[in-house]
Amino acid sequence: MNETIIDVKDVSFTYEEAAEPALTHVTMDVRRGEFLAVLGHNGSGKSTLAKLLNALYLPTEGQVTVCGFDTADEEHLWEIRQQAGMIFQNPDNQIVATVVREDVAFGMENLGVPHDVMVTRIEEALAAVRMTEHADSAPHMLSGGQKQRVAIAGILAMQPSVIIADEATAMLDPSGRKEVLKTIRRLNLEKGITVVWITHFMEEAAQADRIIVMNKGTTVLSGTPREVFEQVDTLREIHLDVPHMTDLSQDLRKAGMPLPAGILTVEEMAEEAAKLLCPSK
Ligand SMILES: Nc1ncnc2c1ncn2[C@@H]1O[C@H](COP(=O)(O)OP(=O)(O)O)[C@@H](O)[C@H]1O
Ligand SMILES: [Mg+2]
Repeated sequence: MNETIIDVKDVSFTYEEAAEPALTHVTMDVRRGEFLAVLGHNGSGKSTLAKLLNALYLPTEGQVTVCGFDTADEEHLWEIRQQAGMIFQNPDNQIVATVVREDVAFGMENLGVPHDVMVTRIEEALAAVRMTEHADSAPHMLSGGQKQRVAIAGILAMQPSVIIADEATAMLDPSGRKEVLKTIRRLNLEKGITVVWITHFMEEAAQADRIIVMNKGTTVLSGTPREVFEQVDTLREIHLDVPHMTDLSQDLRKAGMPLPAGILTVEEMAEEAAKLLCPSK
């Protein structure tokens, strides 16, 4: 997991006519095969960073490379966009066709993929996100979570190295949120697709391999979820919290329940509680 796919070197970015830079001196990388979460509050610079990762924006200062291509090098723009696919927050804004199958085809059409190859890839991508039975449906009839899965299929069909999801669950209900995160996580584990998962939900970040925490246009923490969520004071300073289960396990420990440190997710809590309450298992 050490090969760098995206390299961000000392990047600053200022929007036209903005008084302050949105990003200042950000250095980070994305490694092949990992599920990387970028966590931060509204306005911390996450979306700006996301758009720099696939050449939608170019750095004001510094350099971004994707699969070895400098994003400032216009000659490689299509390769970069194909290698680093983006999923956005609003599922409705990403629908371009009136039938799911055609929607999935859209990105590939721009890449000039031959028709017979396209047909195969559409079927594979829909199967990968478990949307085969909706191939002929109208996208606007689907739930938010299903629409996001169609958007993911459209990106998958372009065979990217990395999928960048910018708050892809923020507009969904809790079950849609789970369904989309689970789909992306499965693609990461089963197909080795690298994921940059941008979120303000601690619970989602807790499930990543690695987390980068952003605040006011800079990266303030990075490490495994356990390493990051141990930094309770730094997180509080920037008004982020630890995951609910970490909080709960600390309270339960204070109340005398012998739970181990470092519980992050509901699954881990359930496992530890079961060990305590049904020791025979
Ligand atoms: N199009 C824009 N023009 C000017 N300023 C912007 C624009 N988009 C975002 N910003 C500013 O850049 C900073 C970072 O925003 P953004 O990257 O959207 O953060 P996040 O995605 O973490 O909410 C914020 O201060 C925001 O107001
Ligand atoms: Mg954003």
